[in-house]
Amino acid sequence: MTAILSARNLAAGYGGSRVLSGIDLEIRAGEAIGLLGRNGMGKTTLIRTLTGVLPAAEGQVLLDGTDAAALPPFARAKCGIAVVPEGRGIFASLTVRENLRLAATPGDWTEARILDMFPRLAQRAANRGNHLSGGEQQMLAIGRALMTNPRLLILDEATEGLAPLMRNEIWRVIRLVRQTGMAVLVVDRAVSDVLSVADRAIVLVKGQIAWSGPPDALRADPAPLHRHLGVGA
Ligand SMILES: Nc1ncnc2c1ncn2[C@@H]1O[C@H](COP(=O)(O)OP(=O)(O)OP(=O)(O)O)[C@@H](O)[C@H]1O
Ligand SMILES: [Mg+2]
Repeated sequence: MTAILSARNLAAGYGGSRVLSGIDLEIRAGEAIGLLGRNGMGKTTLIRTLTGVLPAAEGQVLLDGTDAAALPPFARAKCGIAVVPEGRGIFASLTVRENLRLAATPGDWTEARILDMFPRLAQRAANRGNHLSGGEQQMLAIGRALMTNPRLLILDEATEGLAPLMRNEIWRVIRLVRQTGMAVLVVDRAVSDVLSVADRAIVLVKGQIAWSGPPDALRADPAPLHRHLGVGA
């Protein structure tokens, strides 16, 4: 089966400085990838390059096996790639409902289903984005991404800065989304949570893939986690 999204010998960066190099990866339908790496190792840069926010300096991004170089972010979104970016990016002056409706694309994920999954958002459906807590904003950002009925949901630090209860809520939803068979690419500091949802983990070090494999391999031998992240499994 052709991967939804793949990278071949991908390199990218900002201005003259190269952040990513030699990235090869494939995300297949229904697969969950956990992307790990210390601060500044290039996780967000990789997401930006995969989603077309940053151009590839070398190599290729492929969408359903076809070179995506000419496709801007909105066109990649139309092909079923949804991103919850670092920092959320919801519309502050619009209400929860308006934020969700703006993203609506026909499919199984509807406003009703999302509000059902996030009771806190349902209670605040008429509140504006700037009147939501950080955790509620994050839920809204996830809800908005799901409203596009994507095949692949990319989450960049979706639990960043949230209290434990809120973090648990987000992980609960990520697990629910996984159960529907949607592919996900998850970046998060909580390594054990990432490994618990991922079919495959990728560790970035200085913009290159230093390790990749199944979470079980890291549980059996956490040496790569110690070496590259300074944590246990
Ligand atoms: N807009 C930018 N312009 C120039 N350099 C940038 C820009 N964004 C990131 N960088 C640099 O690129 C490198 C990778 O950053 P990136 O944000 O991809 O890392 P990250 O793995 O997502 O880190 P974090 O865990 O802190 O989110 C860093 O050295 C960073 O300083
Ligand atoms: Mg980042």
